[in-house]
Amino acid sequence: MSQVVTEAMVRVEDVHKSYGHGTAAVHALRGVSFEVPRGELVALRGRSGSGKTTLLNIVGGLDVPDAGRVRVDGRDLAELDEDGLLALRRDRVGFVFQSFGLVPILTAAENVGVPMRLRRAAPREREERVGLLLSLVGLAEHAAQRPGELSGGQQQRVAIARALANNPALLVADEPTGQLDAETGHAVMELLRAVVRSEQVTALVATHDATLLDLADRVLELRDGEIVEQ
Ligand SMILES: Nc1ncnc2c1ncn2[C@@H]1O[C@H](COP(=O)(O)OP(=O)(O)O)[C@@H](O)[C@H]1O
Ligand SMILES: [Mg+2]
Repeated sequence: MSQVVTEAMVRVEDVHKSYGHGTAAVHALRGVSFEVPRGELVALRGRSGSGKTTLLNIVGGLDVPDAGRVRVDGRDLAELDEDGLLALRRDRVGFVFQSFGLVPILTAAENVGVPMRLRRAAPREREERVGLLLSLVGLAEHAAQRPGELSGGQQQRVAIARALANNPALLVADEPTGQLDAETGHAVMELLRAVVRSEQVTALVATHDATLLDLADRVLELRDGEIVEQ
């Protein structure tokens, strides 16, 4: 009956993706299938070039597969037009990237508020939520600082707060600790772990840092574009 409620947050079925053509073609994904259950933190491991970024971009609606089906939060991505994908990325999916991706001239608070401006949230609502999120990531005292005045770990915390701004159902993080030292990276991963519990969000996190895997509810491994059994 309540299929939509019980369905996994992410359902990927036999997804293929190649770049280029003919003998120069690179098969980045070769028939990938998996699910991310609601409320779980799933880690996607695999060495460089194994297809992690390609897969995350497809799940987040930034790229389209050559074949296969992708369902996110009950929606078949193939059935969404450009506006539909835009709305999905803005309202349902929060992205965190290795390189933080903050706007250098904006303060931490302004960066967190950007996604809410894009959906034209009322200024009062925006300010309240930004304050809440900066507290959540432990940066309430740093709201007025620009990215260049923050450490790498703090910048990634701002990026996580920004990813949560519009109350997404799904967090997609592509090697979020890749530019951080081991200790800071662990703290960022612990923050993601805590956020998945407290904000009722689901997360798919690519990493090649083995020490982060024990924080995940489950671990998927990509090897040369295929999921290998654990
Ligand atoms: N835009 C692109 N054009 C051509 N080849 C690409 C492109 N993006 C990724 N690839 C190739 O696809 C494969 C998977 O890349 P990627 O998804 O970035 O892996 P990972 O994130 O695990 O390092 C690699 O062989 C990579 O070189
Ligand atoms: Mg990558």
